[in-house]
Amino acid sequence: MTDSEKTATLSIGDKTYDLPIHSPTVGPDVIDIRKLYGTAGVFTYDPGFTSTAACDSAITYIDGEKGVLLHRGYPIDQLAEKSHYLEVCYLLLYGDLPSAAQLEDFEDRVTRHTMIHEQMMNFFRGFRRDAHPMAVMTGVVGAMSAFYHDSTDINDPWQREVASIRLIAKMPTIAAMAYKYTIGQPFVYPRNDLDHSANFLRMCFAVPAEEYEVNPILSRAMDRIFTLHADHEQNASTSTVRLASSSGANPFACIAAGIACLWGPAHGGANQACLEMLKQIGDPENIPEYIARAKDKNDPFRLMGFGHRVYKNTDPRATVLKQSADEVLDLLGVEDNKLLQTAKELERIALEDDYFIEKKLFPNVDFYSGIILEAMGFPTAMFTPIFALSRTVGWVSQWKEMIEDPGMKIGRPRQLYTGATMRDYVDIEKR
Ligand code: SDX
Repeated sequence: MTDSEKTATLSIGDKTYDLPIHSPTVGPDVIDIRKLYGTAGVFTYDPGFTSTAACDSAITYIDGEKGVLLHRGYPIDQLAEKSHYLEVCYLLLYGDLPSAAQLEDFEDRVTRHTMIHEQMMNFFRGFRRDAHPMAVMTGVVGAMSAFYHDSTDINDPWQREVASIRLIAKMPTIAAMAYKYTIGQPFVYPRNDLDHSANFLRMCFAVPAEEYEVNPILSRAMDRIFTLHADHEQNASTSTVRLASSSGANPFACIAAGIACLWGPAHGGANQACLEMLKQIGDPENIPEYIARAKDKNDPFRLMGFGHRVYKNTDPRATVLKQSADEVLDLLGVEDNKLLQTAKELERIALEDDYFIEKKLFPNVDFYSGIILEAMGFPTAMFTPIFALSRTVGWVSQWKEMIEDPGMKIGRPRQLYTGATMRDYVDIEKR
């Protein structure tokens, strides 16, 4: 944050208040209101935080109007094309692209942390087989606090580093185990001779009864999905992780809070909801009925996979995923995929409709991801766990940035109180 040379002047009644303005390296200026309540006795009001910057951050920048997403300055489309998930993890965590030696060391450290404590297997067996994998992930990741005591002290830089690597490394293992548990198949251990995405595919789809060969094109598509979901500024689940972490809670508990928040259909749960919506639409000829419902104020139905708090242009991740959907379906020889046809026709119609144009509702990251994941053999219930394992590096990077900020304070918003004013207790006989 640059020192403020500019100020904003606020007038309340016959008093005026000068508020410092800080400028970012790129993007909107911010008005610093930290002293507002102390000097003017008023709060600002911004439910949903549509106009509120909650922190400084140097990790991810989004230009919603232009549909731009940068990770440490690098455009997401270039990273999706030229980089790979663990290199993007390094970039998000440490701020720069690694040298070959740094990357090799980082990948080796992650690889050697992919197994979980053997006794954690028991946790899975406490769930019903029909538990949603997100319920399992929330519980098991929170329970990591009970198994990895040597990386819970957030004030120790080395413990923060170990916790970061453990979370990035173990999340695919936990997600795959959550899947295997719900389909009644044995857990598959990670292999150190496989890369991150190939390991995850094998842990999900291999069975002891036969060899499993990872298809390199599917592994590349999986890695691209991981990369596209890695981080996204101060979204709801990242803000949850930051707020939980601001109390000094251990990293595993805070990431579990992020997983719980991501689960919601308005956020990371939208990929599952979007695919279920496409199946409900069934055929492109039914699209107009659903477009009408989405526009109907009295109908709670929304087009899942459309709209975004920040993007008022196409989500650049959706553009990359749309290309990947074509590639993966071609590879799998999935001709005439009805879901993809319906999705493309829905996108075409919606983007020509005045309601969607006026409200700037474009496809977001969740619109095409479900189609790819279903084609790869994942059930819809696994879509959000895959989002969660991808976003773990974003949560961890933002957590690390906040913990290392000497100005960090516990997050404690205020409110516009609309309840009863003070009144005396009434004995029950008099009510
Ligand atoms: C993710 O924050 C992030 O960065 C999230 C994410 C990430 O990487 O972390 O990008 C991942 O969560 C993507 C979003 C996935 N969610 C969905 O696809 C669910 C469907 N989308 C909507 O629920 C909605 O668009 C949100 C939640 C994504 C954004 O909601 P906002 O910013 O609070 O906007 P809003 O609800 O105030 O909507 C503005 C207007 C409203 O109409 P009016 O009240 O002005 O008349 O647009 C309408 C809404 O009714 N609208 C939609 C719509 N989304 C918004 N109408 C129909 N279909 C939709 N999808």
